[in-house]
Amino acid sequence: MYIFKAAVVGAGAMGGGIAQVITFSGLPVVLKDVDQKMLDKGMETVREIYQARVDKGKMSAGDMQSKLDLVTATLTYDGFEDVDIVIEAVPEIMKIKQRVFAELDEVCPEATIFASNTSALSISEMAAATKRPHKVIGMHFFNPAHVMKLVEIIPGLSTSQETVDDVLMFTESLRKLPVVVQECPGFLVNRLLMPYLNEATLCLQEGAATAAEIDTAAREFGWPMGPFQLMDMLGLDICYHTGEYLYQEYGERMKGAELFEELFKAGRLGEKTNAGFYGYGGQSDEPVKDMIAQLQADGQVQAGTGFNMDRLMMPMINEASMCLLENVARPNDIDMAMIAGTGMTKGGERMGPLALADEMGLDVVVEKLQALQAQHGERFRPSRLLKTKVRAGHLGKKTGRGFLEYS
Ligand code: 3HC
Repeated sequence: MYIFKAAVVGAGAMGGGIAQVITFSGLPVVLKDVDQKMLDKGMETVREIYQARVDKGKMSAGDMQSKLDLVTATLTYDGFEDVDIVIEAVPEIMKIKQRVFAELDEVCPEATIFASNTSALSISEMAAATKRPHKVIGMHFFNPAHVMKLVEIIPGLSTSQETVDDVLMFTESLRKLPVVVQECPGFLVNRLLMPYLNEATLCLQEGAATAAEIDTAAREFGWPMGPFQLMDMLGLDICYHTGEYLYQEYGERMKGAELFEELFKAGRLGEKTNAGFYGYGGQSDEPVKDMIAQLQADGQVQAGTGFNMDRLMMPMINEASMCLLENVARPNDIDMAMIAGTGMTKGGERMGPLALADEMGLDVVVEKLQALQAQHGERFRPSRLLKTKVRAGHLGKKTGRGFLEYS
């Protein structure tokens, strides 16, 4: 099925960004929200992205206007009677997503595909609340949606192959890079990224280093942004909720740093509130230092541990090896997804976690994980696959075979 018209429900930063991406490829899009203020903000997001292109001389003002004319902003379901695909980007609460899909079931044609931009929640669970589970699929964009190339495509238990094929073609028509990922909490990229971001936050709350020191080390390693800059951009409400969900689903190894809850409760949600790990627009980060001091004084967190980039990277590699074992995605797709979804590099060279492990040597990775496990606990226990590979002598690049194969 060819997609001639799309709709986006939820005009937050992601919804607005996705609407821009769709119009950029020349398709009309209906952008819906329940709140006029949010809708105006969503339209502003679309306008700002185009304006930046005009300012950089990449687009004429006339072309910008014709792209903007492709967006219809609405508070109702008017215009949904002939859409071929709807992408929902409403808050990360299952009941809200299910309610939106139930409403869409009533107003959209039977053939309309329902896609969810959820960061982590179950596609199958959403699909079960619709009359068309074979037409429901995950279509997970990355922030900023107009810049990051990756879109994770997540079929649920009942999603038809036809729906997967249609959405793959649609994603390519948006000039994005689709990677099919088997359904699991956090899918692929967030499942790998969250342990890394969480470990950075544990280091911070334990006083191992400051946010600025950790961000600098991460950028020197090759990441385009440090973990705290990134979390402030993503929104600490999103990080907190996604982290809680992953903890609920995977257990202890994903237990979130206490500081997330403190920041969330204090309304320090990142750039959007001018206050997160850092302060923006004249706001200070002193309250975060106070929160950390309080957590340490209450004995809620261990104080005085050490920081190095291994502490952040090893959980990501370990989780990637678990994804491989569970067939969440193929080895090359795991690396490509991390590169296209987060801009991951090692010293400027595009490299995903599996290639990185192969370069270090899987025996070295296991040794590092075991040392971290002895110091910080079970969350660093090396995966079964890593240990099996080491026992088999598949040590990475140096033996011609690790997670990937080398000639
Ligand atoms: N918020 C929104 N947009 C931003 C931004 C921010 N904080 N920072 C930069 N951008 C936009 C700029 O406006 C610019 O847009 P334009 O082309 O329309 O002018 C574009 O990004 C490029 O910006 P720069 O020219 O300043 O380029 P940089 O080299 O500084 O790159 C970046 C910026 C692309 C954001 C880069 O730092 C990067 O790749 N960071 C990693 C982002 C990442 O990891 N995203 C995925 C997170 S996980 C996720 O989204 C999943 C979700 O479910 C939680």
